[in-house]
Amino acid sequence: MQYGRPDGTFDIVPPVPCGRKEARSFVNDSACWLHVEAVFRKVCKAYGFAEIRTPIFEQTDLFHRAVGDGTDIVAKETYDLVTRGGDRLTLRPEGTAGAIRAYVSERLWIERPIAKLLYIGPNFRYERAQRGRYRQHHQAGVEVLGASMPSIDAEIIDLAVAFYKALGITDLTVKVNSVGTKESRVAYIDALKAYAEPLLSEMSDDNKRRFEQNPLRMLDSKDKRDIALLENAPNLVDFLDDASAEHFNKVCTYLDALGIPYEVDHRLVRGFDYYTRTAFEIQCKVLGDKALGGGGRYNQLVEQLGGPATPGIGFGLGIERVLITMEELGLPRPGGNQLDAFLCPMGDAARDAATTLASILRNAGLTIDVDYLGRRLKAMLEMADAGGARYAIVIGDDELAAQTASVRELATQTQHTVSIADLPAFIRG
Ligand code: HAM
Repeated sequence: MQYGRPDGTFDIVPPVPCGRKEARSFVNDSACWLHVEAVFRKVCKAYGFAEIRTPIFEQTDLFHRAVGDGTDIVAKETYDLVTRGGDRLTLRPEGTAGAIRAYVSERLWIERPIAKLLYIGPNFRYERAQRGRYRQHHQAGVEVLGASMPSIDAEIIDLAVAFYKALGITDLTVKVNSVGTKESRVAYIDALKAYAEPLLSEMSDDNKRRFEQNPLRMLDSKDKRDIALLENAPNLVDFLDDASAEHFNKVCTYLDALGIPYEVDHRLVRGFDYYTRTAFEIQCKVLGDKALGGGGRYNQLVEQLGGPATPGIGFGLGIERVLITMEELGLPRPGGNQLDAFLCPMGDAARDAATTLASILRNAGLTIDVDYLGRRLKAMLEMADAGGARYAIVIGDDELAAQTASVRELATQTQHTVSIADLPAFIRG
């Protein structure tokens, strides 16, 4: 009996050995993941962020409160479970709610006036699986808690753009909007309902449900008919309170100063109830209408989850979508497992000695692999090549007796005799 992967998931496995013809897509290649994650951590470090890791499941109620009951994510996409002890838990569909829950549980505001948190990890949404949309997807994200000034909003967008650029992804479209405050949305929602009501019979069942439960979410609809019917709906921007309008203008001014091109998209409300004021999304043409990443401000969420009134803003990006984009753009595949040297022992005595020698070299900071299969020299040299090794170190009885090794530089096929004592320094170069 063999078991397949659950729908909407994929395996991440080591890169195909060098020299082998078959390609592996970036999404399945663990070296690509390590590269993207390392670049994300490096860029975030430059902006003063520190890492947070939270459980992949949380109390179900957390997501109902934070993300919102009427959102598609909570209404249709969560993986809910009841534990043997009777607790109702949900696999996290996104990272913000858990990060804020942890901020409140750990009382992080006591140690620092502004918390700048980054995270990387899996999220679970029961979506219609397709390329770029998975049931387990991975997000890299950031959250800034404690700062309400518009410069932070621009800084988060700047960080996101810097990250994509560091990977070689250009041709980005940054869309920004302001969704105002809960209070300023009341009048807008009345106007939206008044506009939508006569059209409701022509709308999708989902939008009929949204009209009753959470009318703003009608604007999240991906249904073409809904989109067309809502084309002339009133614009949220016309209902913004003065402070939100000013905040939005300032965010745009900062983006101009940073030289980040953007489009104002008044239909962009994003699928979460927690957003207030700034909402943004970043796209790249090769991904079509699937966003590379998105985020926004949430000035009431911390308080809503039991913490002190604390403004917040954050951003999340799908690592799979980043990898698909890099591959579609024809960017070079991030490096695989590059070995410094591959040890090729010839004969039993050399095989015994190889274990100790490999350990000495590794302790000297080198990346070393060894032949474990007792193969012929030709096969071992092929393995060295496949592992991307710079050197093959050949030891046999003669070398052992002389306490030397025969070192072959694989790129040039030049050969050197090096004393065992000098090997670490020689390989390090
Ligand atoms: P989101 O827009 O739902 O926002 O997700 C962020 C990014 O995760 C998306 O732009 C996309 O790249 C990726 N993503 C989402 N769902 C999937 C999926 N099913 N398959 C593949 N990739 C996916 C959030 O989750 C917010 N928590 C972002 C945020 C952080 N807002 C404030 N702070």
